[in-house]
Amino acid sequence: MGISIGMVGLGSFGSAFAKLFKAHPAVDRIALCDIDPEKIRKFAEDPFFADKFSPRDAYLSLDEICKSDVDALVIITQHWLHAPQCVRAMEAGKHVYSAVPLVTLPCMDEILDWCDRIIETSGRTGMRYMLGETTCFYPEIMFCRRMAEQGRFGEFVYSEGEYCHDVDSADNLRRVMQIRYGSDSGAGWPRQLADYRSRNIWSGPMDYPTHSAAGPVYVMKTHAEKVTAYGFTAKDPFFHDHTQKFSNEFALYKMANGTTVRLAETREAAGQLGNHEVAFRLMGTHGTFSENRWYEVKREGDYSQRYRSVELDEKELYDPLPPEVHNEFKTVLGEKAGGVGAGDFIPSGHRGAHPYMVHEFIDALVHDRLPVINAWEAARYTAMGVTAHKSALKDGETLTVPDWGDAPQ
Ligand SMILES: NC(=O)c1ccc[n+]([C@@H]2O[C@H](COP(=O)([O-])OP(=O)(O)OC[C@H]3O[C@@H](n4cnc5c(N)ncnc54)[C@H](O)[C@@H]3O)[C@@H](O)[C@H]2O)c1
Repeated sequence: MGISIGMVGLGSFGSAFAKLFKAHPAVDRIALCDIDPEKIRKFAEDPFFADKFSPRDAYLSLDEICKSDVDALVIITQHWLHAPQCVRAMEAGKHVYSAVPLVTLPCMDEILDWCDRIIETSGRTGMRYMLGETTCFYPEIMFCRRMAEQGRFGEFVYSEGEYCHDVDSADNLRRVMQIRYGSDSGAGWPRQLADYRSRNIWSGPMDYPTHSAAGPVYVMKTHAEKVTAYGFTAKDPFFHDHTQKFSNEFALYKMANGTTVRLAETREAAGQLGNHEVAFRLMGTHGTFSENRWYEVKREGDYSQRYRSVELDEKELYDPLPPEVHNEFKTVLGEKAGGVGAGDFIPSGHRGAHPYMVHEFIDALVHDRLPVINAWEAARYTAMGVTAHKSALKDGETLTVPDWGDAPQ
């Protein structure tokens, strides 16, 4: 028997995943859930879903779908709802996939409490939790994981993670927030933000740190020990309205493996520092990855043969997917001529991350294993941001980053 999946939250981002989860060959039933029936209808009436969706499997609330017999829920609701909804789902006996972030709230201690609760609930109930962090499935991260597994970096030295998303960039944050606050489930949130402001609780972009933090942690398989960080006091009223004191934050970490990491989260700074809005770089004693270039040095032999640098073709950086998964995803994502790189389909959605994230979650359930971005791993990314923001509020005081240890084997 296959896996049954309930899609919770069919808004802008959830809509991008419904067809992929439905298409995965190990999924034999799909349920749809949103408090807005119109959002369910557009998928329920699509013939593509007919062989795995029954009208009985349309649910208008999380509570309703938690009472159903589906195996797992994919929660892609607004960012302040994720952690409570994931805990609720795991308590109801469902495995959960959560859109990033683990949760975003103006109070950093509340975010840490939710890390604690997600880990405790996943550990106690045995339900699998996966954070759908797109960065971990970017082509350069797949390539660097392979290089790391082969020892090609030598000793890790230094890494950088950046998420540069200006409020007025093409994916305009003012419009995104209007949509997220505009639905029934979002309408009450501005009042709650006002309550935090009345208590003088202010956040910054490090409350959503997963895109910058994930690369260094995921590739080096380590965690942060200490941080010192600074913030740029927001100029645009948008940030005040969203309870953000800082619109840009920058942090330097001492990592448990002896390396140094620098993260940058910018929301009020034009453009981006690297080739993409999410950038990742990693230097090792023998290998370095930066902006799609791989540099390698040998320490012995003829001096003229010691150094090489190659420009990498993005398509060649992807890991392969199992052929049966690859073939089904082709029906959703379309084919490309030539069959290069990840195969003859075009991995798309956040630079090709989406099909890989879907497969990772389903494969973890099929093989009864922890997903790679499990509760313990997700807490590491989150704690890096939370502690950086606390440091920035204290003008760069060096603080210890909390850690919950490695995920149980
Ligand atoms: N790179 C990335 O990983 C990335 C990119 C974009 C969005 N996201 C994340 O995706 C999430 C969703 O973003 P969006 O833009 O789609 O938001 P959205 O507001 O368009 O959609 C949220 C949907 O969830 C539904 N919902 C809320 N509470 C519910 C409940 N209790 N039961 C059923 N349905 C419920 C809403 O009705 C709405 O349709 C955000 O948290 C965001 O952080 C991640």
